[in-house]
Amino acid sequence: MLSTERSSVMKAGIESMGMYVPRYALDLRELAVARGVDYGKYRQGIGQEIMAVPAPDEDVVTMGANAALRALEGVDRDSIRTVIFATESGVDQSKAAAIYVHRLLDLPPRCRSVEMKQACCSSTSALHFALASCALQPEHKTLLIASDIARYGLGSAGEPTQGGGAVAMVVSTEAKLLQIDPVVGYYTSDVMDFWRPNYLDEALVDGKYSIKVYKQALEQAWQHYVEEGGHAFSSFERFCYHMPFTRMAEKAQSHLLRCAGKCGGEEKLLPMIQSAQRYNREVGNCYTASLYMGLLSMLEQDPADLSGSRVGLFSYGSGCMGAFFSGQVLPGYRDFLNTQAHLDLLNEREMLSIAEYEHFYQSRLCEDGTAQELEVYAGGAFRLQGLRDHMRLYGERQNSLLTELESPLLSLGR
Ligand code: HMG
Repeated sequence: MLSTERSSVMKAGIESMGMYVPRYALDLRELAVARGVDYGKYRQGIGQEIMAVPAPDEDVVTMGANAALRALEGVDRDSIRTVIFATESGVDQSKAAAIYVHRLLDLPPRCRSVEMKQACCSSTSALHFALASCALQPEHKTLLIASDIARYGLGSAGEPTQGGGAVAMVVSTEAKLLQIDPVVGYYTSDVMDFWRPNYLDEALVDGKYSIKVYKQALEQAWQHYVEEGGHAFSSFERFCYHMPFTRMAEKAQSHLLRCAGKCGGEEKLLPMIQSAQRYNREVGNCYTASLYMGLLSMLEQDPADLSGSRVGLFSYGSGCMGAFFSGQVLPGYRDFLNTQAHLDLLNEREMLSIAEYEHFYQSRLCEDGTAQELEVYAGGAFRLQGLRDHMRLYGERQNSLLTELESPLLSLGR
């Protein structure tokens, strides 16, 4: 095909998506009782019901590889020329998590593999870098993985907004789910609303301030999107937001309505974001993956056929950076989703007791180079097997299937 003919049929955007969430979770009703908080604060006030709890033998690499396994179904692995791993829960200061995933998924050696960081929104810059790469070499595809574990202190205000999970997507010129529009509105400002120094496992956060800065970043990124010639507010049928907790999407949507100069119409807002809130409400914050879990939730759970609908997306990363961009849902998108598999993942999780959740939370890997073999918990195809000489050992879970008798939770009184 001539290059001009080819470019007329090329659709740059998201070709496929896959999600992974840990097999264990905590019902926030249990947390409310344990912390002496009215459950209404969690359910209505912040909009969360369940939070995912990664097992001690999972980390961002295993969750990312498990999500990627699904995103790569039906995709020729030899076409993947770039793996970008977006995370703020990296496992090494030097080596990219993308390289572990590259090996676990047996991707071709003629491939570049990198890790990117800017709080929750590096996944969005990764998406735009992948699209720029498509423009240069249309036949080369990018595997983009967003994977994170949100951790705050036990008993802290941030605790009910924890969570974890991964979303992987193939970005190419053969988009089947969402074609991405070229215009993006950006905003960067040096603020300390949320951060995690290298020596801490838990994030530090000024919660109320972070919500204020999030809204400011949305306003500024939207204004930039408009200045750059983006679509009018009225042309959007759905919106997806970064969701540290799902109530944030409602706050963001009301704020955007005001920024776009729309008075009233609040009652029309919820249907525009509701389907995107579903998965996040049952998973919690998963930082870089949060916006894309919302997008996947919208595509898989919206009762309407969204073919041709324009979607506005806002990505926020503390510190801070925001990006507002848009895309159009492609006709026939439902044929390329994994809806039932994702629902099974969410519905078949094991609910932990508070003691089990705190045990998972407190479990630590050896930091002195001692060899360590990890117990086998329930999880996806890949797991962290242990450590040797300060090296992480990853492998397949098969042949180490969990039986009730072997369950490490038995030692906690199960
Ligand atoms: P808090 O102080 O525990 O909660 O912190 P609150 O007192 O503000 O209450 C929350 C809401 O519940 C309020 O509603 C209350 O009225 C309501 P609002 O005023 O917001 O409309 N409420 C009730 N509702 C019904 N029944 C009740 C009841 N009681 C109270 N009985 C906070 C909440 C979110 C600040 C805290 O959980 C936190 O610090 N979370 C972590 C930070 C965060 O998520 N920030 C969001 C923006 S920053 C961001 O998105 C970036 C991030 O993802 C990181 C990254 O980029 O890497 C975090």
